[in-house]
Amino acid sequence: MKDKVLDALKQVFYPGKTHSVVNEGIIEDVEIQGSKVVVKIKTAEKNQGVTDMLKRSIPAALKRLEGIEDVELEIEKVVEEKEKVSNIRYIIATTSGKGGVGKSTVSVNLAVSLAKLGFKTGLLDADIYGPNIPTMMGIDGVPVQIDREHKDKILPTEKYGVKIISIGNMIPKDAAVIWRGSLIHSAIKQFMEDVSWGDLDFLVVDLPPGTGDAQLTLAQEAKVSGGIIVITPQHVAMSDAMKANDFFNKLKIPVLGVIENMSYFICPHCGKRSDIFSHGGGKKFAAESSLPFLGEIPIDLEIREGGDTGKPIVTSNPDSPVSKAFEDAARNIVEKVKLLNS
Ligand SMILES: Nc1ncnc2c1ncn2[C@@H]1O[C@H](COP(=O)(O)OP(=O)(O)O)[C@@H](O)[C@H]1O
Ligand SMILES: [Mg+2]
Repeated sequence: MKDKVLDALKQVFYPGKTHSVVNEGIIEDVEIQGSKVVVKIKTAEKNQGVTDMLKRSIPAALKRLEGIEDVELEIEKVVEEKEKVSNIRYIIATTSGKGGVGKSTVSVNLAVSLAKLGFKTGLLDADIYGPNIPTMMGIDGVPVQIDREHKDKILPTEKYGVKIISIGNMIPKDAAVIWRGSLIHSAIKQFMEDVSWGDLDFLVVDLPPGTGDAQLTLAQEAKVSGGIIVITPQHVAMSDAMKANDFFNKLKIPVLGVIENMSYFICPHCGKRSDIFSHGGGKKFAAESSLPFLGEIPIDLEIREGGDTGKPIVTSNPDSPVSKAFEDAARNIVEKVKLLNS
């Protein structure tokens, strides 16, 4: 009997198609219960008209069979999920009130530290004004790859265990400075959607310095789950830190905390520590703004050299005090992100 039912179903056209409901693959099961047949259907069809037609055509066809008096359709609607090529747990963004405080250096070394801690990590260079992450990660000039499985997507370049994409490589040089906010907005939006990040625990986003429109749209589009403020201990940098804090607040992005960069100096000869700038300003600012203090990074020749040669210090000299400082900051960040998003 079941075979007869299936044969009969092979004669029922799928509405709007030139093949049967069986060929369409929607028939899950057929169950004969005496003179009654139960047809189980699984479909992702969104057009209600098609489903309505099936509700008429299938029973009509089966009732014509000898021995069948009753036909019941069990229709299970499945929601077709759009394939997601990026699955990012936490997006964290670094910003600073102004350029030159070491925001990119910190982003790079944090990203590599996170990867070393075992997290799947990505790094997005969103600093359209000074895209220097490719240089710092040693991937300058490496052509962007297309994701073969998803032909319209871009594959990040992997280095030191981190997946890297730089927006600077995608837009014409010098164009960024004259771009209007709305243009940047749509470019970034598209950009965020067109990268195959895969599964990531952390995506570190290096935002442009400052707190203008471009920065706002960037942070908005990136759907940042936590912000990090990078400052230097000089006095002038403090008001910039406040601006950066206001910036995240305006966007309702929780601030994970403050990192003080170029905080102190360890003499490479005698190992003596000296506070070149009045060290501790970051801690003070954090306390005054009720923000967590995430760590302090010394000023160190090797950090600069690592940036210039594309070998971040946390990989080239992982046991140095500087690398430990970055690793401590990374651990603090992990803790804060989890706390804020639990
Ligand atoms: N802690 C540090 N010690 C020594 N040099 C540093 C340190 N942090 C940053 N630098 C150097 O300072 C310069 C500016 O850093 P960068 O990360 O490009 O700043 P930003 O991204 O804020 O503009 C770079 O040459 C970098 O190598
Ligand atoms: Mg930078």
